[in-house]
Amino acid sequence: MDSQKHLFNLDPDIHYLNCGSKSPLLKSAEAAAVAALIQARNPFQITPDDFFALPKEVKARFAELVNCDPFQVALIPSSSYGFATALSNIPCDAGQHAIVLEGEFPSGYFSLKTWCDKNQAALKVVGPDKEALTPGESWNKNLLDSITLETAVVLMSSIHWMNGLKFDLESIGQKCKTVGAVFIVDGTQSVGAAEMDVKRFKIDALICASYKWLFGPYGMGISYFGHAFDGGQPLEESWMNRTNSQDFGNLTNYDHEYTEDSGRYNVGEMSNFVLLPMLNEGLKQINEWTVSEIERYCRKLTIPLYEYLKSRNVVLEEEQYTSHHLFGLKLPEDIDVELLINKLQSNKIYVSRRGGNLRVSVNVFNTAEDIGRLIQVLESSRSNIYA
Ligand SMILES: Cc1ncc(COP(=O)(O)O)c(C=O)c1O
Repeated sequence: MDSQKHLFNLDPDIHYLNCGSKSPLLKSAEAAAVAALIQARNPFQITPDDFFALPKEVKARFAELVNCDPFQVALIPSSSYGFATALSNIPCDAGQHAIVLEGEFPSGYFSLKTWCDKNQAALKVVGPDKEALTPGESWNKNLLDSITLETAVVLMSSIHWMNGLKFDLESIGQKCKTVGAVFIVDGTQSVGAAEMDVKRFKIDALICASYKWLFGPYGMGISYFGHAFDGGQPLEESWMNRTNSQDFGNLTNYDHEYTEDSGRYNVGEMSNFVLLPMLNEGLKQINEWTVSEIERYCRKLTIPLYEYLKSRNVVLEEEQYTSHHLFGLKLPEDIDVELLINKLQSNKIYVSRRGGNLRVSVNVFNTAEDIGRLIQVLESSRSNIYA
């Protein structure tokens, strides 16, 4: 795959290395949103079928991406909504605990903390060995060791949102199954840019905000709820999640049955006529490109960066724990980070500062030139960074 920058309306002279914060809009998504707004001038054109047809299409596209049944997909407004939905359906026995990653994204952390407080369960926060040169190996091992018969739930990001550290989801999912723990994964920072397979990883709930690697809009996310959540209780009582909701003439013949599948967990007004077409375009494009090609492209793009960092004796994580699309350059504590960020910005290079990391994230709209410029600025700031 070559750069796909031509499919975006990104300013041509900037170096946007920050998809981990928000993706730029695909031209096709922009066109879909504009078309939806124009259609809203004449609402008589919206048919009852329009409320359900696009959600169905979007779910099928996401199901293809993560290897699940489209009936197990639910539309959500945010990752916190997805976590709350999943956790409100997880019981807790006396003496059980929950597990979260050290430095987990706040939406996940707070959701699990609240569940623990409600259930008087301990929250175990698992990190790497403090003395480890690179965190990958010990963090994965510590995580696996911490999952025991007393674990009720593990909630974690598929990769660490601050530095891209990859977790061995397959082993963690297997361990959760062995001990009977529910496995909730926040896929926001990897689904769309790295392989995701809910069956192989034995994930019970996969929660994704869509405005990063899925090229979706802010305000609409998407999730998978596996069989552990069959027959569960949604957070709210939307008329759309009932078995008779497509029969507009008969809605007050109140149907107390939720739809059989994970559609019961859809947020109210899930057919959002502007946002959903945008998400649809993002998912369609990703499936056309394929995730393996996206991954390959990102890997190729970042090789010069890794080579450069190695040449400057920066200690890098082992490849098996490294994401190709998101990378955290650990900054020395005495560095003037503001100065560095300002210098990057004055060179029109956009990255994020997350924890003690300079977070660089790449996607198919990036080019070798973007990485080249980043390397130039890092090199010219070297006395501040690696001296
Ligand atoms: C790992 C992770 N999860 C979730 C989110 C977004 O959360 P929410 O949808 O609750 O705003 C982010 C945003 O940066 C993230 O990095």
